Amino acid sequence: MPVLYDAFAGWYDAMLEPVYRDERRAAAALLDPHEGMVLLDVPTGTGASLPVLTEGLSEATVIAVDASAAMLRQLARRDFPEGIRVVPLAADARALTSASLAQAVGAEVVVDRIHVFLGTTVFEDMAGTLEALWALLAPGGRIVIVDVYAASPGLQGRIVQCMAGADLGRQAWTWLTSVAPDADVHWLDPKPAHGGAIWAATGTRPVERVGDTACTNRADGVQSG
Ligand SMILES: C[S@@+](CC[C@H](N)C(=O)[O-])C[C@H]1O[C@@H](n2cnc3c(N)ncnc32)[C@H](O)[C@@H]1O
Repeated sequence: MPVLYDAFAGWYDAMLEPVYRDERRAAAALLDPHEGMVLLDVPTGTGASLPVLTEGLSEATVIAVDASAAMLRQLARRDFPEGIRVVPLAADARALTSASLAQAVGAEVVVDRIHVFLGTTVFEDMAGTLEALWALLAPGGRIVIVDVYAASPGLQGRIVQCMAGADLGRQAWTWLTSVAPDADVHWLDPKPAHGGAIWAATGTRPVERVGDTACTNRADGVQSG
């Protein structure tokens, strides 16, 4: 898969920017990152979502993970305001650990938000990858997953599947509803170029309770319970 995207990298943004502009904005609104948070964007690709994810923030750390070195080279061409620290990380998303994130950032990190845009249809092991990501999310932290779904892809869906190496039949939102009690699925306005329906799912990692006392909800910076 990364090899496929290595070949795409040079023209990925020009081809897809208009196709997903509205959906990137919708995903950023659902993710709702706050000042000073640590965001994990995976797969980040060329970092096409990062401007909108960090818009309005004066300080944030974004760990931008992708398996394709060529896609990450496109990300390196982007400029971000001072205070927005973007840490590119070439890695298989399924293999990410707290230790690999800490090594990339240079310090232990607590991941407040995870953004998975057009990843679940291309990950080789979708469930294993989502489980690895979920384990990295802080209690109280939020994940937003966006992808395309087509039970029986038409011609455009089959073109997307072929070009993107994607399986549009996957229903990753069902994985999120199985782990996040507050999971919610939003069906966005599809465009013909998407090749199917487009959905955004949100979920919060529950805050574990010890006796009657809730642990600190680090991702929202408040104590609950
Ligand atoms: C359709 S692109 C989406 C990129 C970006 N999220 C966007 O919205 O433009 C899919 C990306 O997934 C990456 N990818 C595929 N499998 C991966 C994996 N196991 N770990 C990390 N990245 C992966 C590819 O290299 C590619 O950049």
